[in-house]
Amino acid sequence: MAGQIPQRFIDDLLARVDVVEVVGERVKLKKAGRNYSGLCPFHQEKSPSFTVSADKQFYHCFGCGAHGNALRFLMEYDKLRFPEAVEQLAGRLGLEVPREGADDPRAQARERKRKAGVNLLELSASYFRERLKMPEAQGARAYLEGRGLAPEVIDTFAIGYASAGWEHLKRHLGERGIGEAVQVEYGLLVQREESGRTYDRFRDRVMFPIRDIKGRTIGFGGRVLGDAKPKYLNSPETPVFHKGRELYGLYEARQADHRLERVVIVEGYMDVVALAQFGIRNAVATLGTATTEEHLSRLFRLVNEVVFCFDGDRAGRQAARRALETVLPLMIDGRQARFLFLPEGEDPDTLVRREGAEAFQDRITCASPLSEFLFDQAAAGRDLARLEERERYASQVLKAIGRLPEGVLRSLMLSELSRRTGVEAANFSALLAKAEGAPGAGAPSGVGQQNREAGRPREAPPGPGEARGAATGRTGALGLAARALQLLVHEPALVEGLPEEDDWCPEEDPDGALCREVIRLLRAGGYRSPQVLLAHFHGTPEGERLAALARRELLIPRTARRAELEGLVGHFRRHRRRRSPQEEIDALLARERAGERLSREEKQRLMALITELHR
Ligand code: CTP
Ligand code: MN
Repeated sequence: MAGQIPQRFIDDLLARVDVVEVVGERVKLKKAGRNYSGLCPFHQEKSPSFTVSADKQFYHCFGCGAHGNALRFLMEYDKLRFPEAVEQLAGRLGLEVPREGADDPRAQARERKRKAGVNLLELSASYFRERLKMPEAQGARAYLEGRGLAPEVIDTFAIGYASAGWEHLKRHLGERGIGEAVQVEYGLLVQREESGRTYDRFRDRVMFPIRDIKGRTIGFGGRVLGDAKPKYLNSPETPVFHKGRELYGLYEARQADHRLERVVIVEGYMDVVALAQFGIRNAVATLGTATTEEHLSRLFRLVNEVVFCFDGDRAGRQAARRALETVLPLMIDGRQARFLFLPEGEDPDTLVRREGAEAFQDRITCASPLSEFLFDQAAAGRDLARLEERERYASQVLKAIGRLPEGVLRSLMLSELSRRTGVEAANFSALLAKAEGAPGAGAPSGVGQQNREAGRPREAPPGPGEARGAATGRTGALGLAARALQLLVHEPALVEGLPEEDDWCPEEDPDGALCREVIRLLRAGGYRSPQVLLAHFHGTPEGERLAALARRELLIPRTARRAELEGLVGHFRRHRRRRSPQEEIDALLARERAGERLSREEKQRLMALITELHR
């Protein structure tokens, strides 16, 4: 496999490209003094807080804190892995990326072949598109029109037509010097086994090019114009096309929205295209296969939320169960998966045409979260009033939970299972630990003796965290950052009243840093239970600190808590580490832009700073 890219090459590359140019190709920039500024591509904003510095060769956003050099920008914006970003930058300068150690001729040959293949597929794609405009494609055009496709979306998806006849593409490519063998290899020609004769794979079909994330054509799907079988024909596995990996429409979805947050997985080409025509431009389809783990891990590199869309029939339910199984191990914190079932007899194409975009969008919005689907699924067909059924219900859910990675979702699911079955979460944790851990031999069976997992922090014996808490506790005083943290641990819902920006958390103080982490987590997880929070940090020094704070009484009435926390935030803001006037101005402006109202003092401060700066 490819070796490491030498650091010297990377340094050299960064010295030669201009970050302003790289960013400027993707974001509209305006010169502002020595720097350039524009609307940040990494968060929603109405006035620019995104700066690119030509001198320092980096970008920075005062609104969301995005920050980095040209490589980082490409990684974030184009969602590339590091080596891909290096390739991309090197490509601009016409440089080959060297690899340490490996001057492996085989790797080079592979790469050459990949490039040749993509070229060949690109040529074919444009050929099919040209054909769609020709008289011979009249039937195809009528078919597409009959299915309600507008010219714009035909264009966006580069839909084409493969003519009837056995050798159109073969001849077209042949005239361009492309041999038959490579056409066979890339799935465009079929070769008869007995005679060795070759002919066009796709004949008299509407052609959907399948593109990779960078927009390169890697394969095709072709649909018959009528009811003949097979309805769809796809490229076979080739050096560049792997069904279990690629998703139709992903490139187009990213083109439509670079800040894509959510993707809807549907079944068919036509579903993707029809939804796009109705303005729902984040749908992708697997290529006649079930959704694989590879599909999903690729998607989760790009977005945080995946919505699976299924037919409401039995086959759809079955597919949904499989998708659930596949997605479970990938559900690290911050990711979401949801399940959408359509009415029987409908697919997204028919439904969006019948009820319109808004109604369909509502269905997406209301799709069941993974947790809900999982519980429903396990309960289906069971009489939960009966003990045995409840036991089976619990083990089924538990088995699924066992496949989730460690994290908030897992803890949440355990407490939810406990709520639904009336069995203590600690018991489930023990069962889980047993299922995962050593195969039984000698493992302690007493539930309370298991030493990991949720439920425990509450009863934990005093640890170092407690000692620390107790030490300050004896004198009665708690640091202010600790107090803020304590309020949040006791009542996580307080997070909702806090300002968007967490720049008030005093960073120098470990409690302040932890406070920031807790806020981020509560926001990302959307959960509001102290136990879940503690479970998340369980087993870490932070966890001990939080547990100690949780054990200390708050000693103020519930109604006064929010006001106290707000008071603390105000205090921290006023006593922040001294910043340069420019930094302070930027921070104040950023808050104002985020829709926050500045206090009178803050406004005066802002004015004073600005005058000072321009004197
Ligand atoms: N498919 C396939 N080969 C087939 C049939 C289907 O690869 N012989 C794949 C295609 O990717 C297709 C998807 O499965 O888009 C869904 O198939 P189906 O539900 O039968 O078709 P629709 O997408 O509804 O197609 P259409 O609306 O064009 O009839
Ligand atoms: Mn359909």
